[in-house]
Amino acid sequence: MQTLQKRATKSLAATAVLALGLVGCASTTGADDTSATSGSDETAASATGSVEVFSWWTGGGEEAGLNALVEVFNAEYPELTFKNAAVSGGAGTNAKAVLATRLEAGDPPDSFQGHAGAELMDYINAGQLEDLTFLYDEQGWTAVMPETLLPLITVDGKIYSVPVNIHRANVMWANPTVLADNSIEMPTTWDEFFVAAETLEAAGIIPLALGEQWTQLHLFESVLLGELGTAAYNGLWDGTTDWSGPEMTAALETFARVLEYTNSDAASLAWQDATQLVIDGDAAFNIMGDWAEGFLRVDNSLVEQEGYTWAASPGTEGTFQFLSDSFTLPIGAANRDAAISWLTVAGSAAGQDAFNVQKGSIPARSDADKSIYPVYLQDAMDDWASNEVAGSLTHGVTASNAWKADIDTALGLFLGDRDVANFQAALVTAAG
Ligand code: GAL
Repeated sequence: MQTLQKRATKSLAATAVLALGLVGCASTTGADDTSATSGSDETAASATGSVEVFSWWTGGGEEAGLNALVEVFNAEYPELTFKNAAVSGGAGTNAKAVLATRLEAGDPPDSFQGHAGAELMDYINAGQLEDLTFLYDEQGWTAVMPETLLPLITVDGKIYSVPVNIHRANVMWANPTVLADNSIEMPTTWDEFFVAAETLEAAGIIPLALGEQWTQLHLFESVLLGELGTAAYNGLWDGTTDWSGPEMTAALETFARVLEYTNSDAASLAWQDATQLVIDGDAAFNIMGDWAEGFLRVDNSLVEQEGYTWAASPGTEGTFQFLSDSFTLPIGAANRDAAISWLTVAGSAAGQDAFNVQKGSIPARSDADKSIYPVYLQDAMDDWASNEVAGSLTHGVTASNAWKADIDTALGLFLGDRDVANFQAALVTAAG
């Protein structure tokens, strides 16, 4: 029964990923902006009281975006009080456990953060979310949300969340001074990285900064994408790529080699700590989603190309490996009307522009004011509109929570024994 359920969830995820298509995420065009002040939502307009919003955006690179969104919310709905129920911990590792307990106890927050894709499908399948199609109709959102994103939040024609952004996962960040001092260019392949890594190690610099386990899963998905290529990587999630094949073995061997060039205290570092190693010049590179751009630019006031530079992670140029943070309306939310007001702001152009400039992500909406975004994010917008697309495993797009947990367990064992054959066998079992 459990297996069947897992399979069903998996195939939903696969359908959603397939629905992405392989090229081009340009959004639908020509739609008018519907701002948070549209006033068409009578239910929300009459709401008073508070709204409890659950996320994991508490620290550097996370909180500034949330605060900016809350500021718009407060301006639009002064009669409502925002209650921040954020639980710290990158990628929601702690938050998701707390949320699961609350949902099980019938005590949901009024709105919670969930990733578009397989992760959201888990909540939908568990009957934990309200259908938000009515809000999309009211606000005209189907015309401004990317056609490629909607299938990842839709089941049976019903739309279940409000995407606030699109993050890019496959980014390699670097310290430009360290690169210049060591005559190193951004590596475009892992083989180029290995050459650079030798030079860096000889100079006493950590080649690749790494943090706690979820960041290692994040690195793993980047290496898989770079080594397998986009089509084969996407095929891992819809059953068309063989997890037991020789290409997979080779990719795992590359991953094992990459780990040799990382800091030994990775397990005890948050993602921000790993990025900090790059900022300080103790490390040259770090692979992290572009919330790191928010951390570099907003929290550390660094200037692009001076304090930090970036490229697609090795082997992934031309592919945008994405994820999307979205907000939900849980069934049984105590302050339902206020939650609808929150969602109205989260889906508005004003809300998304305020949020994303700080967060280091691009808006989910296609009608954002590009001119207000910094260079990195303007680049990301261009790439999102033109690149091939792949989903992130670590951040909920490609695999159900159960499948991802199995992969993560296999990774944890591998980090201990570094046995590629065992790792591959465990991944095959996880996919079975
Ligand atoms: C992701 C989330 C991002 C960012 C990151 C680090 O899962 O989608 O918005 O917060 O985790 O915590």
